[in-house]
Amino acid sequence: MMRMLALVGSLRKESYNLRLVLTMQERYRDRFSLEVADLASLPLYNQDAEDNPPEPVRRLKQKVAEADGVIIATPEYNWSIPGVLKNALDWLSRGERVLVQKPVLTVGVTPFMLGTIRAQLHLREILAAPGISARVLPPAGNEILITFAKDKFEEPNGRLVHAPTLELLDTVVDKFLDLVRSAGTTGR
Ligand SMILES: Cc1cc2nc3c(=O)[nH]c(=O)nc-3n(C[C@H](O)[C@H](O)[C@H](O)COP(=O)(O)O)c2cc1C
Repeated sequence: MMRMLALVGSLRKESYNLRLVLTMQERYRDRFSLEVADLASLPLYNQDAEDNPPEPVRRLKQKVAEADGVIIATPEYNWSIPGVLKNALDWLSRGERVLVQKPVLTVGVTPFMLGTIRAQLHLREILAAPGISARVLPPAGNEILITFAKDKFEEPNGRLVHAPTLELLDTVVDKFLDLVRSAGTTGR
């Protein structure tokens, strides 16, 4: 079975972005496993430590290297991605560049009306940087920009239940799995 790793840009317990990832973990459990990476234990990036990275960074790099694909769930903080996520991506971009050519799907949730579009556009630019160069599912038809989260998730602290959004998610996940298969990293 395919193995996916989720990078979630929010550390809050009731994060909608985490709840989206947990929804995907349960909904697609017959098709792939989805582990949520621990980003909270990563220290702030420091280039002095790059050649001998701290243990949490090593562990994350290994998990990314072993994953068939990576799902990045980003909140939008001040029109961009949260520092938590940028910090993780900076670590992953140096030394052993484990995201190069890695299939990546980006998703995002906000309680407001623009669905993390500004954050995800920034995220796509970052993922194209030389040290990252991920194989990101192209945006046309594939943007998971979830608005007005309070109306679409079961409260308190439940899963995504909004049927049209789940339908879109299904079609986008199908296309992401095609991308992962074409990247030829499965079969371990
Ligand atoms: C520092 C900060 C900045 C924020 N900036 C934005 C923003 O630019 N756009 C937006 O839609 N929501 C913004 N929000 C609201 C977040 O979308 C909201 O807190 C959301 O629930 C965060 O995702 P989470 O539920 O996964 O933690 C901001 C929240 C914080 C804490």
